[in-house]
Amino acid sequence: MSDIRDEAESGEAVSLAPRAPVAVPRVLALANQKGGVGKTTTAINLGTALAAIGETVLIIDLDPQGNASTGLGIERRDRRVSTYDVMCGEATLRQAVLPTAVPRLHIAPSTMDLSGLELELATARDRAYRLRDAVRRLNVDSSHYRNESFDFTYVLIDCPPSLNLITVNAMAAANAILVPLQCEFFALEGLSQLLKTVEQVRQTLNPGLSIHGVVLTMFDARNNLSNQVVEDVRQFMGEKVYETIIPRNVRVSEAPSYGKPVLLYDLKCVGSQAYLRLASEIIQRERNLRAAATV
Ligand SMILES: Nc1ncnc2c1ncn2[C@@H]1O[C@H](COP(=O)(O)OP(=O)(O)OP(=O)(O)O)[C@@H](O)[C@H]1O
Ligand SMILES: [Mg+2]
Repeated sequence: MSDIRDEAESGEAVSLAPRAPVAVPRVLALANQKGGVGKTTTAINLGTALAAIGETVLIIDLDPQGNASTGLGIERRDRRVSTYDVMCGEATLRQAVLPTAVPRLHIAPSTMDLSGLELELATARDRAYRLRDAVRRLNVDSSHYRNESFDFTYVLIDCPPSLNLITVNAMAAANAILVPLQCEFFALEGLSQLLKTVEQVRQTLNPGLSIHGVVLTMFDARNNLSNQVVEDVRQFMGEKVYETIIPRNVRVSEAPSYGKPVLLYDLKCVGSQAYLRLASEIIQRERNLRAAATV
């Protein structure tokens, strides 16, 4: 005991007890190569809702557009370490992590540099695994962060609207894919291609990969087409479609211009309430998956 005190007083490193095992986060990638379907909106608001119910969440902004970073109020000048630096191997993911206005919600921001990544990594043998390897180290490196000690329990990856190397990295790093689908005429267009890519990644890079679920977004009850799309998607994807449907809601689209998730901007609006329901549904699905894995 006195030895420990002596060491502490002398300022040397003291290891009092073995550290608890590092928790492994659940990694969900939000992917759909179609643009404007609600990937970023879902990453921000699902991340906020998960944090609100006690999870410790990291959103990884993997889109050069940087909409998730902007929508969470991260100024461009504050993106000193970005996901580009992480993918290039010049920084750890932990070094890119920034806090947000939401307790327990963090973001690894992106910059436009990311759009040049594909060419830069063209000859790197591990190019598809850059993100996976960074995520594996996340909680190891995060154990003592700014004098706080915490492990991330969820990582949400916001993908760009493309099935390129960046998205393949996300799929190789993820446990499961969450697919936002907009309730519009061409909703199912491109879904087969996306599912094919997921299958290819599962067979080659990441055998554990699955589809977590499909979330229908921007539903408009006054529009017959929206109801038709819900029916078609449920017929095609069955139980994979979450019960929660995200309505089209002007508060959801206004919130990013204030650099806030809609749950902070207007907690009571129908959009916020839908994202809270989606978070509970996802947690429930996770519990069912875990229970199924143990029998
Ligand atoms: N539930 C909603 N109600 C109203 N507007 C919404 C809703 N969800 C998303 N939007 C708006 O739709 C647009 C596209 O959403 P978002 O940026 O989340 O899509 P995305 O799939 O990430 O797009 P990209 O492919 O360009 O990355 C944004 O302007 C967003 O504010
Ligand atoms: Mg986006």
